[in-house]
Amino acid sequence: MLAIRLLAEPDRLDTLVLPVRPVPGDDGAARPAPTGAVLPDGVGEEAAALTPAARLAGRPGEVHAHLRPGRDPGRLLLLGIGDGDEAAWRTAGAALARAAKDEIHVTLIMPAQVAPAAVRGLVEGLLLASYRFRMTDAGAAPALAGVDVVVTDPDAHAETLVAARTTARMTRFARDLTNTPSSVKNPQWFADQVAAHADGVPDLHLRVRGPEELAAEGFGGILAVGGGSASGPRLVELDWRPADARVHVVLVGKGITFDTGGLSIKPVASMKLMRKDMAGAAAVVAATLGAAALGLPVRVTTLAPLAENMLSGSAFRPGDIVRHYGGTTSETTNSDAEGRLVLADALAYAVAEFEPDLLVDLATLTGANAVALGKRTGALYSDNEQLAADMLAAIATAGEAAWRMPLPADYTEHLGSELADLHSSPNRGAGSVLAALYLREFTGGLRDRWLHVDMSAPSWAEGDDAELTRGATGWGVRSLLRWLGSLG
Ligand code: BES
Ligand code: MN
Ligand code: ZN
Repeated sequence: MLAIRLLAEPDRLDTLVLPVRPVPGDDGAARPAPTGAVLPDGVGEEAAALTPAARLAGRPGEVHAHLRPGRDPGRLLLLGIGDGDEAAWRTAGAALARAAKDEIHVTLIMPAQVAPAAVRGLVEGLLLASYRFRMTDAGAAPALAGVDVVVTDPDAHAETLVAARTTARMTRFARDLTNTPSSVKNPQWFADQVAAHADGVPDLHLRVRGPEELAAEGFGGILAVGGGSASGPRLVELDWRPADARVHVVLVGKGITFDTGGLSIKPVASMKLMRKDMAGAAAVVAATLGAAALGLPVRVTTLAPLAENMLSGSAFRPGDIVRHYGGTTSETTNSDAEGRLVLADALAYAVAEFEPDLLVDLATLTGANAVALGKRTGALYSDNEQLAADMLAAIATAGEAAWRMPLPADYTEHLGSELADLHSSPNRGAGSVLAALYLREFTGGLRDRWLHVDMSAPSWAEGDDAELTRGATGWGVRSLLRWLGSLG
């Protein structure tokens, strides 16, 4: 990961980056932002002359490179920062990471009196946009290894730098897990990755249940979905339990390491990206590791039910009745509605075992998420106004997106079954809503303290865009860390 330092004075003058912002009230005009640090001779004047010459408007994401052969600095980059808020700096940081990928090192001089939020946006943008996942050593990796950020008072931003770096590192970890091919990431492999990251962290406890323990304790949903695979299911339970915790949150994430649809097999076009079907589990685990790394004073118990939804002689069948943790039964007419079956076990277990203050789950649950809201926006469900508002605020500040969806009473009747307590896959349209209503049935007395996000759509990006890189986005890590940070 790119090394970022906060300095009071520039230390090297290879490539210098100067922020440029719009001139208020003068449409399309821009000028370099006044900086706290003293610039090398003539550079300030040169940047001021270049800004209109390069037709810069100061929009976040704009970058103009100017060569100065034989002089120091040898390259000047003008970087648009818009209105300088956190989101604008995040976009600017991402643009800088791409524009400077062939540099070894750059020094960015921040505007005078810059707010911590600007540093946060910049650092997250740099670290998220410079992410790459490749399982080969061939081809040139980005050269950019270091960014020095010059601010008037580095100490005032030290904590912000740690928060930004941890958030980005954990988002990158979630992206790694989600991008990894399913031939590698079976349930045990995923659990091993969590163990490697949790190892030695004080107050962080990990328990991994295998098929025998799951059977002994009645986790019938996880066992049914995992039954068709040569790689058995697991339940990861990761507990960040700081002594100063004031609230207890349980996070649950869908962890299907590959979703073929099971015997209700998916067509190839829908199946080929189904290695991402554990993005919810990746996000909740990464956020919990982040909470531990930052020492957030919130107890976070994270459950990741992990299973591979395969078809084989031991796969569960359409028409089977599954008995979940705690005894509730589900009629399953479509083995492709597997996510809710594993989540049902985990939610029921969370309620019975922990009775937390708040219960949140993230899942790549339905294709209907993208039908309703497009490719960037998660579908958020909760009966708790405060919890929904707090989470939506955290999501917005973090630079992710979600839209609140209804849990309409007139739709719950479709969950009825003649054979079991519930029907897991009624075919009535509004797939994301029905899945959320089904999950709510497992929240027991915590029904009003539960929040669910269907994040099928925003878990994946089709191409590089601002801080997102093609492939897994790590959606949810940034939002959850903001939200957990606001609880302590
Ligand atoms: N993992 C899929 C949902 C999904 C689809 C995630 C596209 C990301 C992109 C989930 O298990 C699924 O197959 N859902 C079905 C539910 C249906 C069978 C009730 C769906 O959305 O079609
Ligand atoms: Mn499925
Ligand atoms: Zn799935």
